[in-house]
Amino acid sequence: MSQSNEVIRLPDLKPYLLLQNGNYLYKIPFREGWAVLKVYYGSRSWFSCLAKSFENVVLAGQTSYLPRTRRRVEAECMAIWRKHGFRVFGTYPEVRVEAPGCPEGGYMLFEYVEAPKLGDWMKDESRSVEERLAVYRAWLLEWSRRHDIAVREREPRLAHENGDGKHVMLLPGGEFLWFDFEMTFRSRRRVAEHVSHEIIQYLWFLWKSVPPGIRERLIPETVRHYPQKERLGRAYEYFWRHPNLLHRFGRACERAFKAKARSPTSKYSVARLLREELERAKA
Ligand SMILES: Nc1ncnc2c1ncn2[C@@H]1O[C@H](COP(=O)(O)OP(=O)(O)O)[C@@H](O)[C@H]1O
Ligand SMILES: [Mg+2]
Repeated sequence: MSQSNEVIRLPDLKPYLLLQNGNYLYKIPFREGWAVLKVYYGSRSWFSCLAKSFENVVLAGQTSYLPRTRRRVEAECMAIWRKHGFRVFGTYPEVRVEAPGCPEGGYMLFEYVEAPKLGDWMKDESRSVEERLAVYRAWLLEWSRRHDIAVREREPRLAHENGDGKHVMLLPGGEFLWFDFEMTFRSRRRVAEHVSHEIIQYLWFLWKSVPPGIRERLIPETVRHYPQKERLGRAYEYFWRHPNLLHRFGRACERAFKAKARSPTSKYSVARLLREELERAKA
């Protein structure tokens, strides 16, 4: 347990609110600077939290949506990512925070980091396309290294469930910092599928958010520089030809009935662009 007895007491957290999304995030004064306090109690009511937990645990065989579970899973993921050499936020488990609305066991304290997110950096037209793509290539290598380990070790917690350009920062030395790991239970047996999903999610997010000029380059660069081409092909297949027929049927229904799924900026469309580029590269 904690060695230090450092305690931060704050009579009111409201003045420090950074944002309230799924959780409450506060930027609080800490030591000589700042820290981020994440309180795993979002805007859901207790009833809706329990209802969602019921759905997760009983219907989907996942972990519960209860705040403590989300906190535990986030901490587990961070430890695993760190063990494999991926940069995540530092945490201060030895520090206790006492504040209204910040229950024991329901929060985590992170180092405060100010750096651009990958998605914003890729959009920044004050930098040349080549400069941005050079960073993107470095990112692809680190991305694929993690996928390799996840598949080899059958470790679903190494797939980034919230993976998109908003959840990676680019640190000044060129290092990538990954964050937001709350996730529901994922099966070890389905780790290849989880990785595939992450691949399409990242590509979809980046592809639709970057401006023309770099957008056309994104998928070709991915195919050229992501080392495991077969894994990219598999990512397409999970969306369009899922090995489980029931899932395949579900996805076909989604495309048939949901206009959004058919839009040119849908995950399906991006998966298809990826597949077309893989074919071109083979030819
Ligand atoms: N340690 C941190 N340092 C700086 N900013 C942070 C930190 N943690 C979170 N943020 C900011 O808060 C946002 C939401 O954080 P995230 O972990 O994604 O929370 P949520 O689980 O609610 O989505 C991030 O996109 C980032 O801008
Ligand atoms: Mg988030």
